[in-house]
Amino acid sequence: MADKADFKIIHDAPKAVSRRDFIKGVIASGAAVSSAGYLFRASSLVHGQQLGGGERLLTLNINAQQRRVDVMKQETLAWTLRHKLGLTGTKLGCDRAECGSCTVLIDGVPHYSCSVLTYTVRDKKVLTIEGLASSDGTLHPVQQGVIDEQGFQCAFCMPGFIMAGVAFLKTNPNPTRTELAQGLSGNLCRCQDYDKILTAMMRGAENMRRASRA
Ligand code: FES
Ligand code: FES
Repeated sequence: MADKADFKIIHDAPKAVSRRDFIKGVIASGAAVSSAGYLFRASSLVHGQQLGGGERLLTLNINAQQRRVDVMKQETLAWTLRHKLGLTGTKLGCDRAECGSCTVLIDGVPHYSCSVLTYTVRDKKVLTIEGLASSDGTLHPVQQGVIDEQGFQCAFCMPGFIMAGVAFLKTNPNPTRTELAQGLSGNLCRCQDYDKILTAMMRGAENMRRASRA
């Protein structure tokens, strides 16, 4: 819901941290510099009321870590990630498979996590925006592309675009701008910042090609 954790990150940012370092942190974690409260629906209340009955303990592979978590059979992956595992980089916009802000990779394939039941990913590998950077903190080339081009306005949609972009660029590492736009057409930006987003993603593609040659 209205990402209190995200706002806390913003308010707690040390004064000495440069704007560039701060933005880098935001991009790595998927925290949105956003006042996008209206995008969030009342689903937390609904889900909250459901807690307490019929949960079962599962082990999920999230960002290459085994995570034990109690889930209900009707619980969505987006809900589990955000509210039980604290992975709030995955955003909830529409909560009905329309906006793409909740996109994560499941066995390398992009999915709307708001429309995936958590128990169905028990034996799969889930990758969220938090797991994209290397263990030494080096950003994924697509994340770096966003920094290079200063893409995104409020950045609420950014984690979903980045995850979708990473998956698409694995299938088409050298797309035209039009091909990339089509590849990302399952993701919406409420700020309509599409031109800048595409430029950032094209830079990400370039970064990925360069990294694969290194
Ligand atoms: S929250 Fe919009 S597609 Fe999942
Ligand atoms: S929703 Fe604001 S930049 Fe996309």
